[in-house]
Amino acid sequence: MSTTEARPRRRHALRGRDPGVVPFNRPYLTGRELEYIKRAHANGHLAGQGEFARLSSEWLQARFGSPRALLTHSCTAALEMCAILADIGPGDEVIMPSFTFVSTANAFVLRGATPVFVDIRSDTLNLDERLLSDAISERTKAIIPVHYAGVACEMDDIMAFAADHGLLVIEDAAQAVLSTYRGRPLGGIGDLAALSFHETKNVISGEGGALLVNDPRFATRAEVILEKGTNRSQFFRGEVDKYTWVDIGSSYLPGEIVAAFLFAQFEHADQITARRLAIWSRYHEAFAEAERDGLLRRPIVPDDREHNAHMYYVLLPDLETRTRLIEALRAEKVHSVFHYVPLHSSPQGSRVGRVSGSLPVTDVTSERLVRLPLWLGVESEQDRVIEGVLRAVR
Ligand SMILES: Cc1ncc(COP(=O)(O)O)c(C=O)c1O
Repeated sequence: MSTTEARPRRRHALRGRDPGVVPFNRPYLTGRELEYIKRAHANGHLAGQGEFARLSSEWLQARFGSPRALLTHSCTAALEMCAILADIGPGDEVIMPSFTFVSTANAFVLRGATPVFVDIRSDTLNLDERLLSDAISERTKAIIPVHYAGVACEMDDIMAFAADHGLLVIEDAAQAVLSTYRGRPLGGIGDLAALSFHETKNVISGEGGALLVNDPRFATRAEVILEKGTNRSQFFRGEVDKYTWVDIGSSYLPGEIVAAFLFAQFEHADQITARRLAIWSRYHEAFAEAERDGLLRRPIVPDDREHNAHMYYVLLPDLETRTRLIEALRAEKVHSVFHYVPLHSSPQGSRVGRVSGSLPVTDVTSERLVRLPLWLGVESEQDRVIEGVLRAVR
């Protein structure tokens, strides 16, 4: 796999579904998406900031407790907005895990900053908060916790460290919609947060994302950056009498077709999570004995946090066993994927990043992890996947 993350291949979709194949992902429809898209068209408003963008923002604000939530065309876009809002510039450093998707780093590198890569914890595979004090320098501006697989980072420790050192916390909650940490929604804890509604996530709009502004200081500027650096939102609220170019920005907002699709998904977000959790738990129970026998390691979710079943992965003893498992599953027409090629060892990451200490957990995890199919509808094929895994590792 040459990219940092294995995303499902399109070729199969274009050829039509092969009924014998268990794909890694299949986008789920709740049922009202097309009706809402029709309504958006009937409203005569297909650009951004229409009825469905407003409904979606209100839903996000209510569920995350954020004073301001703005839809974006991707989580990548929301992260880029965070970097601008945080006034990140050349010479600044931003601390993040190397075991993450490329957008976590790219957003800050685009502003000229240096990503500082730290290792991950061996239990949750999240940024190891105990390594923050070694990674910080006088140039550090922000910490980017990534809630891997929808399982929370150690947010209390991270927030306390950031407060002690005057740093911003920007949550990359791409995978963590509707997960919690000590009762609080992920994405609602840091100063800013970015969510993803990419088709591989739990709640989807094809491409899509959101910026959560938890620190109200950033709210007005966030709206300006979203709308090409103009104060168009203020104009439409009647707060200014004309709109004009006031800051840097870009076109980060989605149109109403995407927002309409997304709102239909939001209405079913709890049911989607519940069904995903059932699939996750079935995998988890099925692999308990293999874990006891030392054949694989299952995900670890500490008791003080609820996850959203974004992903089910297992860790194999080594690279050879993982390669054998992926190939054995492929022979049975079951698609599994691995990730990430750690950012610090990627061509771009090694050019622009700084590695804090060594990253042994990152390196070994990247060789051992495999993700299994998890999508609504896989239930009828799940025994096949489970049996395929158990046959390959025994
Ligand atoms: C941790 C993380 N951050 C950022 C992103 C980027 O999300 P998007 O595809 O919505 O831009 C992803 C997507 O896979 C992700 O997993």
